[in-house]
Amino acid sequence: MTDFSATKAMFHLPEGMIYLDGNSLGALPKTALARLSETVNAEWGEMLITGWNKAGWMAQPTRVGDRIASLIGAEAGHVTVGDTLSIKVYQALASALDMRPDRKVILSDSGNFPSDLYMAEGLIAALDCDHELRVVDPEEIENQITEKVAVTLITEVDYRSGRMHDMARLTAKAHAKGALTLWDLAHSAGATQVNLAACGADFAVGCTYKYLNGGPGAPGFIYVAPRHAARARPALSGWLGHDAPFAFEPSYRPGGGIERMRVGTPPVLALAALEAALDVWDMTNMADIRARSVALTSQFIDEVEAQCPMLTLASPRDASQRGSQVSFQFDQGYAAMQALIARGVVGDFRAPDIMRFGFTPLYIDAGDVSAAVAIMAEVMDKRLWDRAEYKIRAQVT
Ligand SMILES: Cc1ncc(COP(=O)(O)O)c(C=O)c1O
Repeated sequence: MTDFSATKAMFHLPEGMIYLDGNSLGALPKTALARLSETVNAEWGEMLITGWNKAGWMAQPTRVGDRIASLIGAEAGHVTVGDTLSIKVYQALASALDMRPDRKVILSDSGNFPSDLYMAEGLIAALDCDHELRVVDPEEIENQITEKVAVTLITEVDYRSGRMHDMARLTAKAHAKGALTLWDLAHSAGATQVNLAACGADFAVGCTYKYLNGGPGAPGFIYVAPRHAARARPALSGWLGHDAPFAFEPSYRPGGGIERMRVGTPPVLALAALEAALDVWDMTNMADIRARSVALTSQFIDEVEAQCPMLTLASPRDASQRGSQVSFQFDQGYAAMQALIARGVVGDFRAPDIMRFGFTPLYIDAGDVSAAVAIMAEVMDKRLWDRAEYKIRAQVT
């Protein structure tokens, strides 16, 4: 059994704050600062360029990738880390389309994160081969997987509502129709029990700054199923994805397996912070994480519905269809969220009217949930949100 008081003690949580936004940016692991300082001083400072070999910087993306693989049910050696999630979406999508040259449809749903859709639009324009991005309602996606679909581009857990797709079922349907699958795990990795290998997923991508606590701007990751690893053609053919980067050949030759999904120089400092953050996972397992996540989100829904009747649940009530976040609809949601943040309960807001609350089992407990709901009840009962300063929109909401 995971000792969640021990995992909570691993994080710096500001005094007086209940942090319900780990689905956007995870909290700071206490060991990250020491790890960064060691990388900066002992490695960058003392080793300079020799750090690439001596400190193992060049192997870092695959080393960290293996640790992430164990959290998402992927085979070791088939995940690499680097760039941003948006770039990893582009790479995986391009490889998938290349593997289905006779099909033109990329199938996604309206609950997908806009950046994924934008990247698909950009890729379609760059390829100029009559591809179509077909965006359907989330409930319709299964029916819409037909023999015309080259690849499904689906975010498992909806960033707005927390609604979770059935990865095994949709992957099986896609394969039955001859389509490939690309799963965005931004809101899944570290939050739900993902099992890429068991589902037979073809490609997956994700980020490390949410539930994996890698810090602001932490890099993205990409998974390519072993059966495709030697075939997937990287559209972004950077030198570190080359088979022999230091041969400096004039033309690109893809590297072996997942190495070909690397693009350029790895973000060594960001990866050092991420490596420290991943140590926490050695103290737990995803079954315990998921059980606690379900308990916390269910408790939150029950208590908010009992104490804040003016808020409308915008997440699935059935825990099996919900990720590790809960959203409530309220027409003054932005102002209400600012009033909560001013009182130490930090969630966020997604237009037009969604108040989002994320529950990171590693550092949120039942006491936090009850304390947060008590503050919410006061804000809602007394209309404490109804102040001009809470209605001024910041750049990041
Ligand atoms: C589901 C999903 N996909 C893609 C992205 C974009 O990620 P990035 O900004 O790292 O490219 C996000 C960002 O939050 C996201 O939530």
